[in-house]
Amino acid sequence: MVTFTEKESLKRALSTYKNADASAKNNHRVGFVPTMGALHEGHLSLVKKALTENDLVVVSIFVNPTQFDNQNDLNKYPRTLEKDLSILEEVSEDIFIYTPSVSDIYGDNITSSKYAFGSLENEMEGKHRQGHFDGVGTVLSRLFDIIKPNRAYFGQKDYQQLQIVKKLVALENIPVDVIGCPIVREENGVAMSSRNKRLNDKQFEDATIIYKVLSEIREKFSSHSIEELNHLVAERFLQNPSVELEYFEIADENTLKTATTKDSSISYRAFIAAFVGDIRLIDNMPLN
Ligand code: PAF
Repeated sequence: MVTFTEKESLKRALSTYKNADASAKNNHRVGFVPTMGALHEGHLSLVKKALTENDLVVVSIFVNPTQFDNQNDLNKYPRTLEKDLSILEEVSEDIFIYTPSVSDIYGDNITSSKYAFGSLENEMEGKHRQGHFDGVGTVLSRLFDIIKPNRAYFGQKDYQQLQIVKKLVALENIPVDVIGCPIVREENGVAMSSRNKRLNDKQFEDATIIYKVLSEIREKFSSHSIEELNHLVAERFLQNPSVELEYFEIADENTLKTATTKDSSISYRAFIAAFVGDIRLIDNMPLN
C-alpha cells in the first residue's frame, strides 16, 4: 500500500506501473474507488470488488468542498484519515491511496465546472442541494484524468450520483467502466454512510424509520397507487417526528423522473432524504 498526497507523484507511479513488463498474472488494469473518507463496510465492499476485477486499486480520500452547498455540513463531515489508512492497509497491499489537499485538486480556483446533466440534475438531490452534482462532476472529472482507471466503483446508496457519473463519462468521453454496487446496511437496516458516524445511539435507532418505510413501500407497491404510497410515507414520518422527511419520491430508475402513475414496462425505485437532527441521510430501494 502506498499513499500519495500529490497528483504528480501519483501519476508518475501509475505510469511506471502501467508501463512495466506485462506478465501473465498482471494486465495492469486499474480500478478506482473515489471516497470522501470516514470509511465503512460499504466502501470496503467497493474496494474488495475492485481488487477482484483489477490488478491495482486506487482509493482516493478527499472531502470535496465544491459539492457541499452548506458550509456547516462541509465543516462537520467526518474526517478519520489515520483510521482510514489502517483499515485499507489490512485489506490489501495492492492499493494506492490518494489523499490530496484542496489545492492539489483545485489550485487557487475552488469552483465547479457547469455540466449539462439534463433532467437528472433537476430531480431529488439536484433540486435540494444547489450545485451538488456540478461539484461531484468536477472532482470526478479531475480524478479520472489523474488516475485514468479502467473501472470505477460507486455505491447505489447514492443512486442519483451513480446515474450522474454514467452521464459524465458519456459527456466527456472518459474511457472508464462505471460500476454500481449494492447498498450495504447496518444490522438495523440503516444504509451505511460516513455520516452515520455523527449519529448518537438514539439517532442511529431513530434513523431505522427510513429503511422501514422503504421496505413497507416495496411490500405495498403492487397493491397501492403511487398517491396512496406518498400519503402513507407522509403519515409514517408524522408519527415519527424525530426524523424530518426532506423528500420521498417514487421515480423511474433510469430517468429518475418522478412517477405519478405506474407503467409495467418501467422499473421504479423509492428515494428518501431525511434529517436526523442536523444529519442528512439518503437511501433508496428498488420496487419492482
Ligand atoms: O460519494 C462520494 O463519497 C463523493 O460524492 C465522491 C464520489 C467521492 C465525489 O467526491
